[in-house]
Amino acid sequence: MKENMITLAIESSCDETSAAILRGGREVVSLVISTQIPIHQKFGGVVPEIASRKHIVNIMPVIEETLQKAKLELKDIDQIAVTYGPGLVGALLVGVSAAKALAFTLDVPLIGVNHLEGHIFANFLSHPDLKPPFMALVVSGGHTSLVHVKDYNSFKLMGQTRDDAAGEAFDKVARVMGLPYPGGPQIDKLAKEGNPLAIDFPQAMKNEENFEFSFSGLKSAVLNYLNSMQQKHIEINKADVAASFQHSVIEVLIAKAMQAVQESHCDTLVLAGGVAANSSLESRLREAADKAGIRFCFPNKLLCTDNAAMIGCRGYYKALAGFKSDYYLNAVPGLGLEDL
Ligand code: KG4
Ligand code: ZN
Repeated sequence: MKENMITLAIESSCDETSAAILRGGREVVSLVISTQIPIHQKFGGVVPEIASRKHIVNIMPVIEETLQKAKLELKDIDQIAVTYGPGLVGALLVGVSAAKALAFTLDVPLIGVNHLEGHIFANFLSHPDLKPPFMALVVSGGHTSLVHVKDYNSFKLMGQTRDDAAGEAFDKVARVMGLPYPGGPQIDKLAKEGNPLAIDFPQAMKNEENFEFSFSGLKSAVLNYLNSMQQKHIEINKADVAASFQHSVIEVLIAKAMQAVQESHCDTLVLAGGVAANSSLESRLREAADKAGIRFCFPNKLLCTDNAAMIGCRGYYKALAGFKSDYYLNAVPGLGLEDL
């Protein structure tokens, strides 16, 4: 495989249609992200059928735009990487079908990519000198996991959430507080004006000797608090609720991540997934890593949330290891992060 391979990457797992061109594994030549957030906002969350239909409309224009920005043509593409899971089945199928059709027509390799592995690999794009091994804390809308990345193609899942993902808890709490979708960035903003110690919300699993998480109890605790305040006609300080909720999530994430770093003797901690864009999580993790004398990395803001560049990076390293998908590649909505 030549080193400066041109990879066309496609991502359509949720509400972003994205395409990217990478030269080699780490140089993003162009990246286009077409977000559907304003469309789903009026429903308070992603409507899967609408998402699929919008991906169908957007996919080819987004691919064409990314080629134009890179000043390349389809004939210049050496391989195609595409997200095949986890995500919404109809949304994933749009990207997978487009990738298969292009790979077949251009007669180039097709590489199916796990979206969560893509989130971890976003760090390689923001930190050119980053190399495995490291511990990765993946916090997205659908997943919360700790992954020991031993090598580019060797991972060990240390643990994950038993119920809600951290991002899901952010979105649900924001929704009951009357904040628009997606709730994570709204809570992040509001929390800056609040007192994180104002309300003592639970920090489930924090002191347990495992790498599992649970956020559904915390979500219920916030709902109960809001309801009981309403019943008592006590005015709610929304900023304090946001800050205290966020504090509970972050405390657990930090405790577990640092425990995982210690147990696996890693000298680097990497943050990944949409919730990595949370300013307080990033600064508190950095503090904890500094104190422990380890390196801390997280992707730049654009690469924290869903994008095709991270899929291209993961696809490149899979191809380098000789991995290739066949034309039976299908969408796998429930695909998890597994030991590799
Ligand atoms: O990784 P992502 O873009 O999509 C999934 O793969 O799920 O993550 C989206 C999640 C949403 O739950 C969103 O509310 C959350 O990331 N998020 C944030 C922030 N920005 C996005 N959560 C907390 N603070 C933020 N600043
Ligand atoms: Zn994602």
